[in-house]
Amino acid sequence: MKKINWFIISILFTIIISISCSNEKQDKKQNEELAYDESVAELLSDENDLLSQMPEYSTNAPGTSQRMERAFENAPPMIPHSTEGLIPITKDKHMCISCHMPEIAVVMKSTPIPPSHMTDYRPDVNVNSDGKITKPNVVQKDLGGKLDMSRYMCTQCHVPQADISPAIQNNFEAAYRKREARNQSNLSENISEGVK
Ligand code: HEC
Ligand code: HEC
Repeated sequence: MKKINWFIISILFTIIISISCSNEKQDKKQNEELAYDESVAELLSDENDLLSQMPEYSTNAPGTSQRMERAFENAPPMIPHSTEGLIPITKDKHMCISCHMPEIAVVMKSTPIPPSHMTDYRPDVNVNSDGKITKPNVVQKDLGGKLDMSRYMCTQCHVPQADISPAIQNNFEAAYRKREARNQSNLSENISEGVK
């Protein structure tokens, strides 16, 4: 009887020890996670430090800047020149098109706005007699050189780029199918790729 008691006690003892050990491990892990969180919080909350690290955007006037490589195939190119005096784009003032519409771009030596921006890709919405929307038709309507109004706000997609050293590195690597795709786009030609 006595022997059995000792046996049970020693088993209990082992269990307690191993639980307390694993708790210790867990505590250590949790503390490490907390320490990490604190450093991130510090990074995010120290506004002054962040402001002093604000990127410097290009001050080169259009015509004197260097075009940048695209982020990936058919990504909207970044604006390589200064945007001072060019933004905001309003109903009455739109400087971008005064240099980038294809007929002017040749003279300005800017990149012409591509055919994809002179195309209406919005699906035709068909409403039947019950007022229900039926399956929309996928369309690609050529606007004959007129800018599609969904492209009016250039800065919705094209933003100025600056050289910065981000706290968290981006390891994305773009895979280009053609060499030219690094600094040219051809979306209007291959937008239907894989679509039946
Ligand atoms: C005074 C003419 C002019 C104006 C205005 C202008 N650009 Fe440009 N843009 C250029 C030129 C020229 C280039 C080629 C790079 C250079 O020479 O600076 C260029 C390059 C670009 C590029 C890079 C294209 C590529 O091939 O990678 C983008 C994107 C761009 N501009 C967008 C804009 C947007 C958006 C606006 C309006 C906020 C704008 N531009 C206003 C002349 C202009
Ligand atoms: C809805 C997003 C969007 C808007 C708005 C937009 N673009 Fe683009 N832009 C793109 C994308 C995506 C590409 C690359 C793929 C392609 O050719 O369409 C591009 C490509 C370009 C190029 C490079 C053309 C080439 O041959 O490589 C120029 C220049 C350009 N856009 C200028 C403009 C200007 C100027 C405006 C405003 C009038 C504008 N874009 C509005 C998304 C947009």
